[in-house]
This record gives sequence, structure tokens and C-alpha cells, in this order.
Amino acid sequence: MGTQKKIACIGAGYVGGPTMAVIAYKNPKCVVTVVDINQERIDVWNSDTLPVYEPGLNEIVKKVRGKNLFFSTDVDKAIAENDIIFIAVNTPTKDYGVGQNMAADLQHWETIARQIRDVATSDKIIVEKSTLPVKTAEAMEIILNTGSDFHFEVISNPEFLAEGTAVSDLLDPDRVLIGSRETESGQKAKNELFEIYSAWVPEEKIITTNTFSAELSKLVSNAFLAQRVSSINAISAVCEATGADVQEVSKAVGADSRIGSKFLNASVGFGGSCFRKDILNLVYICHMNHLHEVATYFENIINMNHFQMQRFVDNVVRSMFNTVAGRKICIFGCAFKADTDDVRDSPAIPVAQTLIAEKAKLVISDPKAMDNMKEVLGDPKNVDFVADPYEAAKDSHAILIITEWPVYSTLDYQKLFDVMVKPAYLFDGRNMVNRNACFNIGFNVHSIGKKALIH
Ligand code: NAD
Ligand code: UGA
Repeated sequence: MGTQKKIACIGAGYVGGPTMAVIAYKNPKCVVTVVDINQERIDVWNSDTLPVYEPGLNEIVKKVRGKNLFFSTDVDKAIAENDIIFIAVNTPTKDYGVGQNMAADLQHWETIARQIRDVATSDKIIVEKSTLPVKTAEAMEIILNTGSDFHFEVISNPEFLAEGTAVSDLLDPDRVLIGSRETESGQKAKNELFEIYSAWVPEEKIITTNTFSAELSKLVSNAFLAQRVSSINAISAVCEATGADVQEVSKAVGADSRIGSKFLNASVGFGGSCFRKDILNLVYICHMNHLHEVATYFENIINMNHFQMQRFVDNVVRSMFNTVAGRKICIFGCAFKADTDDVRDSPAIPVAQTLIAEKAKLVISDPKAMDNMKEVLGDPKNVDFVADPYEAAKDSHAILIITEWPVYSTLDYQKLFDVMVKPAYLFDGRNMVNRNACFNIGFNVHSIGKKALIH
């Protein structure tokens, strides 16, 4: 039993690696090869320490690597030898030229399309795994099928995994989305992909659409998720001003089954490599279609996120008598969310940068993401990285909780208070601590979306 296919994936990043590991694990008769131009990354995928930290991933990779999952830098060989080629390369926001700071940068994408066309010696199914603007599949088909003896069918299969829960999201997805053309070859390609996923995903969870709908649905999903975070963050500001409690409001509002309770946790702001980039991508598509009001509507999700981060750090400076120059401030958490070492677009970055500009001495602590944060900040003077939270907090004036690592709920805040300079401040950007207990210990407590508790 089980389908037998030869599958390649170009791009061994956060998406390509885990997605292919699960496909190989659930389809033992398929041979899956993941390729990347980054030799170092491939070497790490082939080592005992994987390049991405994801709970459960190591175990799965160990079971299949060397059996039916392979990592390599030989992109040409992978293209030539495989029938189904997933593309999971990065599609960042363009930082030059037309559409700068808004459109998706499709240079890697285009390069690969041409490479596939030049190297292929048989027909192929090309699967868009990366998040892309609507109509990219169509553009890719034009590049691929111009001047080639073979047929290339491009289908869209966007990925919905979230970092930190990638393995469980892949093993038990809410849905798998496959967008294809209505043509015979489009339907045949769709069925091939359907067979791969139906090895473990219930068929009713595999949604099939046309290609444009699949491409757009991915951007819309991220926009709607980010919109919920920006909505509750906007309300957190209203709560702080009025004495309402954002967690109580979230609970009351989310109890309406039409609204739902997930993704209503107020925070310093959303981060990650995708929300901002994908909303900008959607905004650009709207502008290109002369839908400027729609563009503005979605752009405001990002504006609100920026406002929230700035509001948080402004409150730190303002509450500490308008100056943090020379004072030690401790940041708990720099990953953009818990259970990942990823700091891309993390709210910790603008918070740290603002405090550095204010001449504060920073100590950053995080269970997994300190090395990545060091790289982003460029290891400037006045920033130390200390793994142990109690060591990190020593002689500091304030603790800022930026990431929702569960450990920050269970720390001994009396012990932390004892080693800090007084008055000691606690800025809880994730509502992690028992604020009344911390206030009673002696902290001035500023929780996101709640009235501050000041001695
Ligand atoms: P990533 O940066 O972690 O990995 C992309 C990889 O592609 C890199 O290792 C890079 O070296 C490789 N690459 C680039 N050009 C190449 C080429 N020409 N040939 C071979 N390899 C090449 O990116 P990611 O986070 O995995 O995201 C990939 C795509 O998936 C993006 O479009 C993203 O929006 C989307 N996505 C990401 C997530 C996530 O959680 N990170 C979730 C869903 C969708
Ligand atoms: C998000 C989506 O959840 C995935 O479905 C999607 O595949 C992925 O983007 C992508 O396209 O890259 P991810 O960015 O990994 O996944 O993480 P999320 O769990 O969505 O969190 C994003 C940010 O929002 C984090 O900074 C998180 O802390 C923040 N957040 C989330 C809140 O501030 N409050 C919430 O209630 C939920």
C-alpha cells in the first residue's frame, strides 16, 4: 500500500525541511529529496542538530533521513530525477525597484523556473509551496512552457504551518489546500498531490480550488490572523485607558462561537517572517487592481502593529521617569513567539533598538533565540546575552516580557525582585505573570491591556 512517487523540494528552510520530512514519513514508498543552494544549511540538515528548532521534528527526521528523505545541494540533479517538484524558497518583500517595500520579491522564484525548464528531461508537476502573489502559477507556466519540449503543470499548495507547532500542524492540519487548473493535465496533477496528502490527512480536509483561489486564500488567511491580533492589540490600548482588562474582554468576546476564542491574546505586536510580508503582498495586489480603499483597509493591520510596539516601548521609557540612559533593562524573550528560535520581525527587535537608542544597557535572555538575535542586532556595545533569567535580571531596573515562553509564568519573581535595583519595574507584554502577586512583592507592574499597578 501507499503511493510511490519521486518528489523533490527546492528550498530547505522552515517550510521545505519539516514539510518534506512529514511527507516522507507518511509516504514510506515515496523518495523525497530536499535541495538548497545553501551548503551550510544542507550540512546541518544532514547532522544531528537541525537548522530549525521545532518540537518533534528531530524524531521524524531521524526516522526517515537516509531511507526515503535526502538533503542535497545538487539542484539540477533533483530537478532532472524527480517528477513532482515542490518549491519552498523564500519570497521576501522586495527592497528595490518597482513595488519596493511592498511587492513580493520573486527573483528566486523566476530563477528556479528557468532552471527547471533548462534542466528537465521529462514532464513535471511543479508545486508552489512558497507564499506567492495571485497569478504567479500562471506566470510560471508561461516561463516553463516557453521553448520547452516538455509539459510543466504548476499547481498551488500553500503551507499553513505555524512555527513552533510545525510538526503537529503538518501531522494534523485544519486543511490542505490544492489549487489547480480545470484542464485534464491540471486535474491529473491535483490528483497526484491529493494521493500524497491522503496518506494521512482525512479527505474531507483536503480542499481543492482553482489556482488563483488557492494563491489568494493563503494571503487572506495570514491577513485575517494578523487582523485579529491587531484588533485585540488596539483594544488593549483602550483597556489601559479605561480600566477594562483585555484578557476579560478577549474571553467575553471570544465566547461568541461566531467570533471564536483563538488568536485574541494581546501582545507587544505580532512578528514572524510572514504576516507583515504577506499583508504587504496583498496590499500591493489591491493597488495593482486599483482597489486603493481595500489596500488601505489591510495596510492598517500593519500600522496598528507598529503602533502597539512603539506604544509598549514608549510606556517603558515614560514610566521610568522619561530616561533609561545608563540603566540596565532586562528583556525576557526575543523569539517572535514561543517554541521557536526565529527572531525574524520579532517585536523584540524594535523594542531593543529603541532602548539602545535611549542609551539603556540591555540584557537579553531567551531559551532558544539568543544567537539569532545577536546576529540581527550586530552584537552592539551595551547589549549582553544571558541565558539564565535570574542572572540576566541582576542589577536591572526593569524586566520586559516580550515572548510568551511558558517559563516566564513560572519564574520565582520574589527571587528576581531581590536581585534588581529598586524601584523595580515589570512590563509584561504577554500577560504571563500573576500581576497582583508581583505587585505585592514590590514590583511596579505594567501589563499589556490592563491598568498599571504602581506603588
Ligand atoms: P527560508 O528562508 O527559511 O528558506 C528558504 C530556502 O530557500 C533557503 O534555505 C534558501 O537558501 C533557499 N533558496 C533560495 N533560492 C534558492 C534557489 N534558487 N535554489 C535552491 N534553494 C534556494 O524560508 P521559509 O520560512 O521556509 O519560507 C519559504 C516560503 O514559505 C515563503 O514563501 C514563506 O512565506 C512561506 N511560508 C513560511 C512559513 C513559515 O512558518 N516560515 C509558513 C508558511 C509559508
Ligand atoms: C503564521 C500563521 O499562523 C500560519 O498559519 C502561517 O502558515 C504562517 O504564519 C506563515 O505563513 O508563515 P507564525 O508566523 O509561525 O504562523 O506564527 P503565529 O502563531 O501565527 O504567530 C504570529 C505572531 O502573532 C507571533 O508573534 C505571535 O506571538 C503573535 N500572536 C499570535 C499574538 O500576539 N497574539 C495571538 O493571539 C496570536
